[in-house]
Amino acid sequence: MSTPIRVLSLAAEAAPFVKIGGLGDVAGALPAALRALPTPVDVRLVLPLHNVIDQSQFEFEPVASFTIPHVDGELIAEAFRTTVRGVPVYTISGVPIISSPTVYSSDAGMDGAKFTFFSLAALELARTLQWRPHIVHAHDWHTAPAIHALATTREEDEFFRETATLLTVHNLPYLGVGAGGCLAEFGLPPAPDSPLPYWAENLPLPLGLLAADHINTVSQGYAAEILTSEFGAGLDEFLKTRANSITGILNGLDLEVWNPQTDQKIKIRYAKGAFKKREENKAALLEEVELTADPERPLLGVITRMDHQKGLDLIPNALRDLAGQAWQAVILGTGDPDLEDAARRLDAEFPNVRAIIRYDDGLARRIYAGSDMLLIPSRYEPCGLTQMIAMRYGCVPVARATGGLRDTIIDYHAEEGEGRKRSTGFLFEEANPKELGQTICRALKVYQDKRRWRGLQHRGMKRNFSWERSAEKYLEVYQELIR
Ligand code: GLC
Repeated sequence: MSTPIRVLSLAAEAAPFVKIGGLGDVAGALPAALRALPTPVDVRLVLPLHNVIDQSQFEFEPVASFTIPHVDGELIAEAFRTTVRGVPVYTISGVPIISSPTVYSSDAGMDGAKFTFFSLAALELARTLQWRPHIVHAHDWHTAPAIHALATTREEDEFFRETATLLTVHNLPYLGVGAGGCLAEFGLPPAPDSPLPYWAENLPLPLGLLAADHINTVSQGYAAEILTSEFGAGLDEFLKTRANSITGILNGLDLEVWNPQTDQKIKIRYAKGAFKKREENKAALLEEVELTADPERPLLGVITRMDHQKGLDLIPNALRDLAGQAWQAVILGTGDPDLEDAARRLDAEFPNVRAIIRYDDGLARRIYAGSDMLLIPSRYEPCGLTQMIAMRYGCVPVARATGGLRDTIIDYHAEEGEGRKRSTGFLFEEANPKELGQTICRALKVYQDKRRWRGLQHRGMKRNFSWERSAEKYLEVYQELIR
């Protein structure tokens, strides 16, 4: 193709503007990675101008103002533009966005109105600028209304008639429950006579999944799992009808942001194989979190959003099963108050456990650099970044075999003999404390054999989870959709 592919990428959050979770990492990194490919891709990102975005950090220039129809009358949308890492970024403001104090809230109506307004405004922005995208690429439920809207109007709409749509699912269970009324207020119809289950026929994500020309999830493993009742969030039977249009593309890791050789927040920077320096980081970490300096005792790290998805509640009983053995643990994170309390209780119960209930990027990095293992007992994990960061920092993941975790970690015990020489961590099948405890126990045994353990660390540090490879796969999907 002579002209570059034009892609309009829509997301609720994207680094460096606003980041709440992994979606923000991906929505921020992917456009830059696409633009760095040898094949030119004109990808532009659109975000809501959330109140929490620090506007003084970016030069936003006003570029357009237009209206979005709503039952109560037209709503004004204003669009601004800036450029970050070579990517043109548009932000959209308007009453439904300004009146919401946080990025996400527990008020389904408020979020529904904000993201429906945003999704429609992102499309109108392209029209106002007369910049006709080949592809509209939406992420998760928040921007799925754009795909649904396009599908309902595309045939009569000369401007978008040729535009294809891609929906990336980062977290299936977040369907946009409660936003159905908002869709109707913005003139978006439900899909009553469709293969969707009746309860899903006016929800943003299901409607997007119904309408998208292609769907992808953030790992191949998760793409297969969402077709099962365990992981399908009630949509598995419907998703099976779309199975031919669902693929998995593993997220990349920003290798500049996550690099133990240049990380300014760790005590001593180190390269692959520099295990002595890594031990010094461990000693510094133990001192920082006030655990006994005992290099022989393996240190288990946990860095997580404290959420049911992440399986944090499996950890207390798993550790209790290991009470007689030598180990220490440091837990870092915030989230669900009950899970925070459970972590504090564990800290009080065990002198060898520290629970630090806060968001702390620097400490997180020192835990990656200083602990021996990272526990990741997720109930489901569409991709997961922590296991990739851990491996890059020489910290061995002990994880539930699900989604992106299964796809990125090679289990030590599944690979006997020669195969073991490829392993990078430890996996377990069922999300329960017993299996987690037994798996930590297996890891503790291997830890006693320094040579084997270093092999695990070294192989993990050598893995290449770059964005380049993932961006190439997205480009292939775009090219296929245009054809
Ligand atoms: C969601 C998923 C996580 C994934 C991230 C980015 O937060 O829970 O597994 O890594 O999105 O795609």
